[in-house]
Amino acid sequence: ECGIFAYCSQNVCKDRKYVIDTLLNGLSRLEYRGYDSAGIAVDGDDDKDMYIFKQVGKVKELRSHIDKATVDFSKQFNSQASMGHTRWATHGQPSPINCHPHRSDVTNEFSVVHNGIITNYKELRLVLEKKGHKFETDTDTEAVAKLAKFIFDSNPKIADFPTLVKSVCKELEGAFAFVFKSVHFPNQLVIARRGSPVLIGVKTDQKLKTDFVDVEIPAEDAIPAAFEESPTGSSLLTASPQHQLRRSQSRAFLTNGQSTDPIEYFIASDASAIVEHTKRVLYLEDDDIAHIHDGELHIHRLNRANDKTSSVRSIETLEIEIAEIMKGSFEHFMQKEIYEQPESVINTMRGRINFDTKEITLGGLKQYLTTIRRCRRMVLVACGTSYHSCLAVRQVFEELTEIPVSVELASDFLDRRTPIFRDDVCVFLSQSGETADTILALRYSMERGALCLGVVNTVGSTISRETHCGIHINAGPEIGVASTKAYTSQYIALLMMAVQLSEDRLSKLERRQQLIDGLHDLPSQIKKVLQSDETLTMLAKGMIDQRSLLIMGRGYQYSTCLEGALKIKEISYMHSEGILAGELKHGPLALIDENMPVILVMTQDSFYPKVQSALMQITARKGLPIIICNEGDKSLTENYKTIQVPKSVDALQGLLNVVPLQLLSYHLAVGRGYDVDFPRNLAKSVTVE
Ligand code: F6R
Repeated sequence: ECGIFAYCSQNVCKDRKYVIDTLLNGLSRLEYRGYDSAGIAVDGDDDKDMYIFKQVGKVKELRSHIDKATVDFSKQFNSQASMGHTRWATHGQPSPINCHPHRSDVTNEFSVVHNGIITNYKELRLVLEKKGHKFETDTDTEAVAKLAKFIFDSNPKIADFPTLVKSVCKELEGAFAFVFKSVHFPNQLVIARRGSPVLIGVKTDQKLKTDFVDVEIPAEDAIPAAFEESPTGSSLLTASPQHQLRRSQSRAFLTNGQSTDPIEYFIASDASAIVEHTKRVLYLEDDDIAHIHDGELHIHRLNRANDKTSSVRSIETLEIEIAEIMKGSFEHFMQKEIYEQPESVINTMRGRINFDTKEITLGGLKQYLTTIRRCRRMVLVACGTSYHSCLAVRQVFEELTEIPVSVELASDFLDRRTPIFRDDVCVFLSQSGETADTILALRYSMERGALCLGVVNTVGSTISRETHCGIHINAGPEIGVASTKAYTSQYIALLMMAVQLSEDRLSKLERRQQLIDGLHDLPSQIKKVLQSDETLTMLAKGMIDQRSLLIMGRGYQYSTCLEGALKIKEISYMHSEGILAGELKHGPLALIDENMPVILVMTQDSFYPKVQSALMQITARKGLPIIICNEGDKSLTENYKTIQVPKSVDALQGLLNVVPLQLLSYHLAVGRGYDVDFPRNLAKSVTVE
């Protein structure tokens, strides 16, 4: 949730309009992370001044608000530091006052943008209020800006900006990615990370002196506590000799070596906002404090004791292309992503499946295959759509590997403090790789000694970095909040893993070959399903005023039903429920009458006769189901309203069946006039518990 974008340049002569446009453009790329309000802070007319602009709504509202402002857009800057934020409210409702950046005081001495949640903000606020600070918002973040000013004011000998920010962060509990800006430290930004992702793009025409940044580890801990005891204690720590804030010495830094060379830094919550400027990026780790000033980037650590984090942050090259994050000719990102599936599934399989020899090789798991094969059980952990992809593959996974598989919702897995042992293998699935519940479940499992695998889409994300090994699903950036192509790619990634794990079992040879052949045909079959788009548009029109929609199926298709229902509720705001057809007579049948819309997923597999009996139960109660069935299934096509899909292997059929449901949800949302890519109350990346 929430997107941060900041920009810091040295020796790049630009006017204020350019700086503002750069920020707004970056924020609009991140809008899918949160879009209930937006704001920016830019340099004022002299060093002792900054402008903060905020507006409720999307970035375009902020743009028109700024256009009306009486500022000199032509003012030139040779060096500058600016930052912005697009918000998804967690503390305090969306309102102009609650928008970021938040400030320390009316003169904007310190301002901050924040991603995450500060859990002890109430205590901090209480203490700061007692010290005379007047709060103007309901947010947790405001306490951070005020704390910065408080520490600055009470330590007159403060040496530098990162030392101050370290001192602030030491008082904070919770999760954050911050960018700080201050009139006391002009042309500088400090970025801090704990729990929320943030990366820094570096752009210069010159050769960089190094392709990594050494992390500065202080010789001694020079950071005092801001408050003597806890924030609730009342005594103010003043600068005493033993507590003076000392300047941190950087051991190494990134620079182009020539202080007159132009250099620009782009800071963002994810790569989609950076790639159009530069492909050279550096990911911050938890507890990193990055400082940009005079064209240089220094990285410091928050905690020194027992710090096992690597002391080098290397500069990586982004592999996404700008075209991948543009909508092209599509109306919405979600629509584009649904239509990308014939290609995205190929990208997931590319270089991994040899369709001639019928072999699968997942490079990321190579070293661990024996350990995985010997494990006691496999635990798949995820949230939302990613969880559904685990359910989709469980049966065939168990069949191929003969390893017991349990599938867990990350939040529930943690709530139950699920017993995890050294001989367990835990697999964490996440499109973003940044979902807080899934990350916490990963850390929990790590602590208990399990082998931890990640199945993620976002390269460089926390889950991909913190797991022992894993698979990138390579679906390409997914921008639409409702996940579509990530689902089909996760499904395939898990399936490939199951096939590879079973390669030591001769008895499964035939099944493996059948699945690999099925995967081969999949892209063209998805293309075929996409041709039913018009039928689904009509179907959606007919359902537009319904209040509820039940989606039923069983076996491999239960996950299809859950995923279809999730898509419908999240973007069309229509109540929808995925129901296991086997459970029909244990309750849900009471809902059925001639008015209740029902979709029955009834493609041909070994559960077909059982779903047929569910169909009988529904029609006996005058229900009029729409049936997703295989092409040419005359007993259904001649008697019912149907959506026909090509036939695939039983365990792969869900990859085709889910597509009409994705399209249906899309057309329902469009038909109802909702913002498909930005459904209310939801954010793409849920980085809070
Ligand atoms: C639904 C959706 C969410 C996510 C869930 C997990 O369309 O997108 O349910 O699947 O928040 O997110 P990731 O996969 O990023 O961990």
